[in-house]
Amino acid sequence: MPTIVFVSPKGGAGKTTSSLVLATQIAERGKSVTVIDADPNHPVKTWAAEGAAPKSMAVISDVTEEDIADRIDAAAKESAFVIVDLEGTAATIVAHAISEADFVVVPTQGSQLDAEQAGRAFRLIRAHERGIQKHKPDYKLPYAVLFTRTSVAIQSRETTHIRRSFANAGIPVFKTELNERAAFKAMFAYRQSLSGLSRSEVSNVDKAIENAEMFAGELLQFLRKGHMEEKKEAAQ
Ligand SMILES: Nc1ncnc2c1ncn2[C@@H]1O[C@H](COP(=O)(O)OP(=O)(O)O)[C@@H](O)[C@H]1O
Ligand SMILES: [Mg+2]
Repeated sequence: MPTIVFVSPKGGAGKTTSSLVLATQIAERGKSVTVIDADPNHPVKTWAAEGAAPKSMAVISDVTEEDIADRIDAAAKESAFVIVDLEGTAATIVAHAISEADFVVVPTQGSQLDAEQAGRAFRLIRAHERGIQKHKPDYKLPYAVLFTRTSVAIQSRETTHIRRSFANAGIPVFKTELNERAAFKAMFAYRQSLSGLSRSEVSNVDKAIENAEMFAGELLQFLRKGHMEEKKEAAQ
C-alpha cells in the first residue's frame, strides 16, 4: 500500500534514523511494513540482522538502480506500508524511488545551510510531477519537510526563521520535529527498537517514544488527507 520515501541529498540529515523510527512505529501498531534499505552501507539491514525488528517488519537491501522501482512495487502489494531509505547522493536511484512514492519525507537539520540542501529534494519532486502532469495535469506528489536533531529545550531562532520561509514558499512542514535524543542514536548502537531500549542505560526513552508516535501520527494524517483528496477528485 502507501510507499513513503525519505529523500534528502545531504548525508546526516536524519533519513535513516527517521525512516527506522517510522517503520518500527508502524510495525508496533500491528501493520506490516517493508523497509527498502537502498543505502549501500545497509544500516537498516544491519540493524535488523540481530532480530530487533518487530515481527511485522521486513527489510530488503539488495536493490539496484535498475530494479528499485519494481521492488517497491512488489513490496507495496505485500505490505501495508513500504518505507524507502536512500543514500544522499546517487540521483538516478532517488528519482526511480520518487516515481513509486505516495509520500516523500524530506528530513533536514534546522540550519540554513541544511535547509538550502533540501531544495535539491524539492526539485527532484517537481521534476517527477512535471513528467506525470503531461498526461494528468492535476497530479501532485505529497511531501513534507521534517526537522531533525532539533533541541528539545528551545526552538532556535534559525529554525523558526526557516519554518517561516518554507511556509511563505508554500512548502509543507511537519509540526513534529524529531528532536536530538540519545535514544534515537541508541537504537542503532544497541540494535533495538525504541521500546526495546533499556531505561536504565538510555535516558528519556519514553520521551523519544512520544516523539516517534507524534511523527508517525502526523504522517498517517497526511496520508489520510491525501487519500481523501484523491477520492474527492475521483468523484468529480
Ligand atoms: N533525532 C536524532 N537524535 C539524535 N541523533 C540523531 C538523530 N537523527 C540522526 N541522528 C544521528 O545523526 C547522524 C546522521 O543521521 P542519519 O539518520 O544516519 O542521517 P542520513 O541517513 O540522512 O545520513 C547519525 O549519527 C545519527 O545517529
Ligand atoms: Mg542514511
